[in-house]
Amino acid sequence: MFTKNQFFFFFFLLFLKLSASSDDDFIFNGFSGANLNREGVASITSDGLLQLTNRTQNKKGYGFYPSPLQFKSSSGKVLSFSSTFVFGILPEVPYLGGNGIVFVISKTTDFSDATASQFFGLFNDRNNGNATNHVFGVELDTVLNPEFQDINNNHVGIDINSLDSYNSTSAGYYDDSSGSFQNLTLISNKEMQVWVDFDGEKNELNVTLSPIGMTKPKKPLLSSIVDLSSLMLDEMYVGFSSTNGGFHTSHYVLGWSFKMNGEARALDYTKLPKLPVISTKGISKAFAIWLPISVVLFILLIISAIVMIRRRRKFAELLEDWELQYGPHRFSYKDLYKSTKGFKEKELLGAGGFGKVYKGVLPNSKLEVAVKKVSHESRQGMKQFVAEIVSIGQLRHRNLVQLLGYCRRRGELLLVYDFMPNGSLDKFLYDGAQPTLNWAQRFRIIKGVASGLLYLHEDWEQVVVHRDIKASNVLLDSELNGRLGDFGLARLYDHGTDPQTTHIVGTMGYLAPELSRTGKATTATDVFAFGAFLLEVVCGRRPVELNLDLEEQLLIGWVLMSWQRGHILETRDVSLGDEYCDYEVELVELVLKLGLLCSNPMAAARPSMRQVVQYLEGDLALPELPAGYVSCATPSPSEGFDKSFCSSVSSLSSLSGGR
Ligand SMILES: *[C@@H]1O[C@H](CO)[C@@H](O)[C@H](O)[C@H]1NC(C)=O
Ligand SMILES: *[C@@H]1O[C@H](CO)[C@@H](O)[C@H](O)[C@H]1NC(C)=O
Ligand SMILES: *[C@@H]1O[C@H](CO)[C@@H](O)[C@H](O)[C@H]1NC(C)=O
Ligand SMILES: *[C@@H]1O[C@H](CO)[C@@H](O)[C@H](O)[C@H]1NC(C)=O
Ligand SMILES: *[C@@H]1O[C@H](CO)[C@@H](O)[C@H](O)[C@H]1NC(C)=O
Ligand SMILES: *[C@@H]1O[C@H](CO)[C@@H](O)[C@H](O)[C@H]1NC(C)=O
Repeated sequence: MFTKNQFFFFFFLLFLKLSASSDDDFIFNGFSGANLNREGVASITSDGLLQLTNRTQNKKGYGFYPSPLQFKSSSGKVLSFSSTFVFGILPEVPYLGGNGIVFVISKTTDFSDATASQFFGLFNDRNNGNATNHVFGVELDTVLNPEFQDINNNHVGIDINSLDSYNSTSAGYYDDSSGSFQNLTLISNKEMQVWVDFDGEKNELNVTLSPIGMTKPKKPLLSSIVDLSSLMLDEMYVGFSSTNGGFHTSHYVLGWSFKMNGEARALDYTKLPKLPVISTKGISKAFAIWLPISVVLFILLIISAIVMIRRRRKFAELLEDWELQYGPHRFSYKDLYKSTKGFKEKELLGAGGFGKVYKGVLPNSKLEVAVKKVSHESRQGMKQFVAEIVSIGQLRHRNLVQLLGYCRRRGELLLVYDFMPNGSLDKFLYDGAQPTLNWAQRFRIIKGVASGLLYLHEDWEQVVVHRDIKASNVLLDSELNGRLGDFGLARLYDHGTDPQTTHIVGTMGYLAPELSRTGKATTATDVFAFGAFLLEVVCGRRPVELNLDLEEQLLIGWVLMSWQRGHILETRDVSLGDEYCDYEVELVELVLKLGLLCSNPMAAARPSMRQVVQYLEGDLALPELPAGYVSCATPSPSEGFDKSFCSSVSSLSSLSGGR
């Protein structure tokens, strides 16, 4: 039995507890002078915007309420909470940005071990998904990361200790009157509002999104039953995290309100700071000042016009009506000329099958780009080609090199890509120009390229056949992610050329045998090339090396023969070293066998890219290679091989014999 005193003391404690939690109610209509715990590149601008990331690449930025809040009742139940905030995402190149903003509730504000870019500065590749993280998040994600099963490049997700979202959906809202779903684009330079409401009784979490200024839509975007009882600790910090990866993007929060055990107070839109806009102010004022001397200027203008006309010839580009729709994707030749310092040899990054690639820095944005000059005489089919290139360029996938835009000149097409600081994979494999990669790095690159290719084959609205998969077309970003470049480019040779004389593009050693027969590139011919690529990465050598012994000249043949003799592992790159755990040995063997499977001379027997990804992820067991598996590239081909391919192979062999 309680004594009277104990009884009052108990209520006193309860009262303390309640008052402590009811204290947790704050509102920031703009952050001027706000006491926030900021980390990383986050800052508060003079206007009162919380700028989480600025335009520096691969940075993390955080803003947390300075003191932890009580998230559990005395009985250990997770309390209800409610929060709303207004954010804005400003990319430097229209509609291209990364990676987004996360509303975070976390046991700590120390994220020094976390990775930027796709990990949102909250996790790293070791602890993603670990229940000891104690991190809850609502992500506004603008990049498709297949490794986290992202649904698209514009979604809202609920994250529980992991970036593999518990629930996610495409960004948008349900209209109150019609009930219809309205899409929203997160990276649109526009302010949007988010509401996060958690009901501790029902364990119900609602996330709602809307353009700024609307009343909160009645139907939430996401509504999930979530058990946060083991995630939430007694005291947790609440705030925001944001990162950018390769894209120059600024992420802002304009205002924020939070309340424990009740509905967050509404923001006062009139007090919120404005997002920075591209400044056009001062034009009329400047005009008034300049007017009196405009006559003088007029004369100067005529002189400069003459100079301009001369210059224009130099910078002449082709521009037709149908191109106007591509607005931001069209670059002026002048900008590209300037950015590459006049296509100087010094800026040359490389020269491939399709043309020369130069490094450039765009004049206004200072964005580093790679400019590819493709010579192209035929104007026939150009319209369709450009339409395709631009539409493929709108793909955003972490394992594809981003196409930013293009420019046309007479006989020349210039394609502008995101710059990849670490260059192409072949340099790391066998050029000796770069340090060699360890197994974990190689395997990550392989999985990345597989997922990029799967995306091209199956997940885009039309099937895109790459046609030239090889290590030198795989570029590495600053975090050594593999990114497939040059996609879709091979089609250039289809449009415009006479279909009677189909031009086979691709590279020797990666060409599927049926290609020489049918001349038709398919997803299966891509899979063949991907198989050659797998062997290339594991063995650290080119598919065809004529200066080796006849047995080893053709990589596929050599690996196949070694497999038949029971020592397939001996073909792996010696520079991988011997220090493996058993698990890695198994993976090396798996990738080698998968390479053989993909390089099956029978197109129908090759796996699809979806299966390839499942084999690599371990979601599907790799089938045994058929005992009679024969590659036409084996030095002693038996029946079932493809004559035309082998004749080209043997002509290569005889070529080497003559050396
Ligand atoms: C971004 O923020 C960092 C840290 O505050 C600063 O050093 C850097 O100059 C900023 N960059 C830009 C482009 O504003
Ligand atoms: C989760 O993290 C803890 C602490 O860092 C670690 O001890 C544990 O092994 C991790 N669990 C898994 C499954 O990685
Ligand atoms: C909204 O977005 C989805 C997914 O991106 C798309 O399938 C749909 O066509 C869009 N709807 C409208 C009306 O734009
Ligand atoms: C979530 O949304 C549903 C549907 O509008 C509503 O009935 C419920 O009360 C909401 N829950 C919370 C916690 O806001
Ligand atoms: C995910 O959100 C949708 C939309 O609110 C909802 O219908 C669905 O039940 C949720 N799924 C889970 C697993 O909570
Ligand atoms: C290239 O990758 C290495 C890791 O091997 C990294 O340390 C370096 O920063 C990258 N280089 C550039 C220019 O980003």
